[in-house]
Amino acid sequence: MRERESLLSVQAKKWTSNIYRQNHRWSEKNSRKRSMVESKWIHTIHVEKAGLEIVDKLGWTDKKKELAMMLTYLHDVARPLQAIMTETFSDTSGNFNHSEIGANMVAIQYPEFPGKSEVVEAIYWHACYKPEIKTDLISFIRDADKYGILKHLDFYINNKLFTDYLPRGDISSEVADAFEMKQPLNYQMIRVKSPADVFVSRMAWMFDLNFPETQQLFIENSIPSQMIALLNQYQTNSNNLDRIVATMSEWQHEVVTTT
Ligand SMILES: [Fe+2]
Repeated sequence: MRERESLLSVQAKKWTSNIYRQNHRWSEKNSRKRSMVESKWIHTIHVEKAGLEIVDKLGWTDKKKELAMMLTYLHDVARPLQAIMTETFSDTSGNFNHSEIGANMVAIQYPEFPGKSEVVEAIYWHACYKPEIKTDLISFIRDADKYGILKHLDFYINNKLFTDYLPRGDISSEVADAFEMKQPLNYQMIRVKSPADVFVSRMAWMFDLNFPETQQLFIENSIPSQMIALLNQYQTNSNNLDRIVATMSEWQHEVVTTT
């Protein structure tokens, strides 16, 4: 037990959960902020579980696994503060870059440990559209973050974490076109117009999974068919829906034949 408690990842989980608990207390009188803080802690646990599945497949050293698991707890450490200060998880509209601020919080406030600069760097790059640098730890946390969300998309829909700010509507042709490129959607280029569009844009994260091991886990766990079942719950234009489904099966075929 004592040995487990000395693990870097266990300490990082404690440190992060204290920050969430503190912010949860501060948001006591505002139920929206309070549930925002709660939802990001649940997300952190989704990423922890996803990260464990991925590191089990990667065959990394124990030291590297520890740094990876630290990241699952620390990557969104600025989210509770963001909820309290801006009441949105949009980095742009709230003018609060949670990756940059989270990286600073860890750099300044977290005790020193071997590999700290790589961990801080991975927090900094974990959520941007295309990171300027690529390390195993950056690839790992980007995969665990997306795989953790895609595995639990029903949670994000039920808690209105994706879609509460747009009117109802079908998948737009622009979004279906972008999905067919098999790349994550660039929000600066494409404007999402409906909750169905937002959902498809999240689905497109599957094209940004870095490790073949994560792609395999994603397919083995039947996430593509779960996503299509959820997408069917939106009022969707059948032509665009068919294009999304066809693109997904093409991608799955490519993954299965190349890995
Ligand atoms: Fe994040």
